[in-house]
Amino acid sequence: MILESGNIVLRPLRNEDSKRMSMLANNEKIGRNLRDGFPYPYTLRDAKDFIKRFKNHPTFFAIEYKGQYAGNISLVQLDNIYRMTAEIGYFIGEQFWNKGIMTTAVNLITDFGFRICNFARIHTGVYDYNPASQKVLTKCGYTREAVFRKNIFKNGQLHDEIRFAKINPAVEDDTWQIKE
Ligand SMILES: CC(C)(COP(=O)(O)OP(=O)(O)OC[C@H]1O[C@@H](n2cnc3c(N)ncnc32)[C@H](O)[C@@H]1OP(=O)(O)O)[C@@H](O)C(=O)NCCC(=O)NCCS
Repeated sequence: MILESGNIVLRPLRNEDSKRMSMLANNEKIGRNLRDGFPYPYTLRDAKDFIKRFKNHPTFFAIEYKGQYAGNISLVQLDNIYRMTAEIGYFIGEQFWNKGIMTTAVNLITDFGFRICNFARIHTGVYDYNPASQKVLTKCGYTREAVFRKNIFKNGQLHDEIRFAKINPAVEDDTWQIKE
C-alpha cells in the first residue's frame, strides 16, 4: 500500500533504506524518545534487522520526503480485548524536523488505520519531555487522555507517560462495524 500527500509518501520499507535509516536513526535525540528496542548508537545491522522483520508488514511504512527516505511510521495492533486498538509509532531524521512532515504522515496513517484496517482506536504514549510529538498528535486531532505518572524508565530516570488517542469517526457516529 502506498499513501501520499504532496511531497510526502508512505511506502513499504526496502532493503536499500538500511544505510540511510541507520544514519538518521543514529542520533541520541531520536533514541531518547523511543523504546529501548530502538537503541543508541544505532548501527547498520540494527536497520537491516528492522527492515528484514517489517518490510512485508502491511502497517509498517517508510516515510519519503521529496523522493528521499526520511524516517518510519507504523501501526501495531494490540491483542486480546485490546485488538480493535493500534499503537502508532514514528521517527524522522533530525534534518527533516519542523517542516510539517510528521503531521502529514500521522494524518495519512491514521486515516489508513481507520478506513482500511478498521481500527476503532489509535493511541500512543509520549514521554513528558517530548513536546514536538505531543504537538504533532494534537495537530492531527488526537486527544490528550491521561498521564501515567512515572510509567517510563528511560536512560536511568523515571518519567511521566502522556497517553494520546484518536477514535475512529465511524465509532463516534455509530456506523462502525466489526470485520473480524
Ligand atoms: C517528534 C517528531 C516526530 C516530530 O516530527 P516533525 O516532522 O518535526 O513534526 P512537525 O513538523 O509535523 O510538527 C512539529 C511541531 O512541534 C513543534 N515543536 C518542535 N519542537 C518543539 C518544542 N521543543 N517545544 C514545543 N513545540 C515544538 C513545532 O513547532 C511543530 O509545531 P507547529 O507546526 O505548530 O509549528 C520528530 O521530532 C522525531 O522524529 N523525534 C524523535 C522521535 C520521536 O519523538 N518519536 C515520537 C515518539 S512518541
